[in-house]
Amino acid sequence: MAKITTLKIQEMKDRGEKISMVTAYDYPTACMVEKAGIEIILVGDSLMMAVLGDDSTVSCTMDQMIHHIKPVVKGAPSCLIVGDMPFGSYNESKKQAVHNAARLLKEGRCDVVKLEGGKEVADTVKAIVDAGVPVMAHIGLTPQTVSKLGGFKVQGKGEAAKDVLEDALALQEAGAFSIVLECIPEQLGKLITEKLDIPTIGIGAGRYTDGQVMVFHDMMGLFEKFVPKFVKQYRNLGSEITKALEEYKEDVKSGAFPEEKHTFGGVSEEELKRLY
Ligand code: KIV
Repeated sequence: MAKITTLKIQEMKDRGEKISMVTAYDYPTACMVEKAGIEIILVGDSLMMAVLGDDSTVSCTMDQMIHHIKPVVKGAPSCLIVGDMPFGSYNESKKQAVHNAARLLKEGRCDVVKLEGGKEVADTVKAIVDAGVPVMAHIGLTPQTVSKLGGFKVQGKGEAAKDVLEDALALQEAGAFSIVLECIPEQLGKLITEKLDIPTIGIGAGRYTDGQVMVFHDMMGLFEKFVPKFVKQYRNLGSEITKALEEYKEDVKSGAFPEEKHTFGGVSEEELKRLY
């Protein structure tokens, strides 16, 4: 498969072809996503909850992101790889934001960075884009500021819809190449998608966005703490894997594993006798 670029993603919107995107945090998952032909991989800071057991994404560090972006890039050479900028890595100054965005590209080797926020981060987005780094924006429900939002709730309901639309327009103006819309009413997802020239990628934003993103562990049934309404569980690998582990335990206890075919020879009878 030829390498997916930001230009190709824009062309997909222009011709009305839907864009698929999923998270991955390691090499084997990246290899599977690449094989499936999905266009974009997000190495998201959801890593902290899905894989590292935290109850929010806030504690994520630059070093953790770089550590996880590297194997994903190796496993999925054709996909467009987006690296998440952790909370606090772009909020102090434009200089800090450009420095950290460049680190994700130079050390992690991803193609694009993603950061959360609306109008208030538009200048930061512009500074990063001006420095030569493509940016995917992220508005609506922004998990890094979930305490400020008062919990994992649908955003942009009623009069607040105007604010989300203004955020989207400001981020497009600032040079973002696409925008994630998380947990907003379907009608608002449709409106923003129609108003913007750049692609929108929805997660809980309804059926009319230009693309969809899902957290791998949610869609595969590997994260049991809670399953948001917008998640479609394509498999329940968590219970499949638990069943396999129970079988393995039984086999070890009963001696059914290992069988002769899993063993090595190589010591003659004579040699053995001498050793005994
Ligand atoms: O970190 C992440 O996985 C995300 C998605 C929920 C879009 O930001």
